[in-house]
Amino acid sequence: MNLTGGLAWHWQAWRAQARWAPTVRRLEAWLHSQTNWPGASTSPTDLPAPLNAPRKLLLIGASAGWMMPNSWLRQFEEVHTFDIDPWAAPLFKWRHADALKKSGTTLTCHTQNAFAHFPQLLEAHPEACVFFDNVLGQIRFQTKEIDSVETNFERIRQSLQGRQWGSVHDRMSGPVQRYFGAPPQAPEKIDTDKQTQQWLMRMNAQSPWLDHLTQHVFPAQTAVENFAWAFKPGYWHWLQAGWVRP
Ligand SMILES: C[S@@+](CC[C@H](N)C(=O)[O-])C[C@H]1O[C@@H](n2cnc3c(N)ncnc32)[C@H](O)[C@@H]1O
Repeated sequence: MNLTGGLAWHWQAWRAQARWAPTVRRLEAWLHSQTNWPGASTSPTDLPAPLNAPRKLLLIGASAGWMMPNSWLRQFEEVHTFDIDPWAAPLFKWRHADALKKSGTTLTCHTQNAFAHFPQLLEAHPEACVFFDNVLGQIRFQTKEIDSVETNFERIRQSLQGRQWGSVHDRMSGPVQRYFGAPPQAPEKIDTDKQTQQWLMRMNAQSPWLDHLTQHVFPAQTAVENFAWAFKPGYWHWLQAGWVRP
């Protein structure tokens, strides 16, 4: 059973587009700022990308790319999406294929468990960068032990050594007091317990909040960006994003 994808996800995402828009815009700006290679904007007159800029992207947990901006995808020559949800491939194409065709980006959508044979998947695309698109926060639902969540992340990090990769994922989620208007902008740093509590208070968080156990996804010293995401009325997520360079 797919707890985090499938038709229920698509229905919810389709209906929530206006509510999610402020977070999607912040994520878009952040993605561009991290992979600020020439060729990364929507302008067709861009300079060619430098030789070491990855031209190929593996997008893991892509679903229909409900939060994934075309302006960022269009910089790549090839985009490969991976999702276990059989609806993901047709819906991703429906939402993104036209824009990618215009930029000459080849789109291939794979219906498969990306983590079942992750090292082999990477070997098949040695020159690609990887983006985990709101999927690593779900690993805690696919295992019964906290330690194995950490072990999974360790294995993923090891497989990715020597390559550029990034992730946006749930850090925590939970109920909030009804809140009108766009979600608040996150502070630059949320490292200490006090900063965490201040951030939760700013989001009007009500106990209990679920920890998605993603605190140590990135190698130490990776700069991390935080976002509030008004997932449902009265239930928000705290997203974290980072980009790793070898
Ligand atoms: C929270 S949704 C995010 C979807 C997408 N990034 C978006 O913004 O629309 C998580 C997605 O990860 C997919 N997923 C979960 N486990 C996966 C796995 N092992 N391999 C590939 N996809 C997976 C789910 O099917 C679901 O579509």
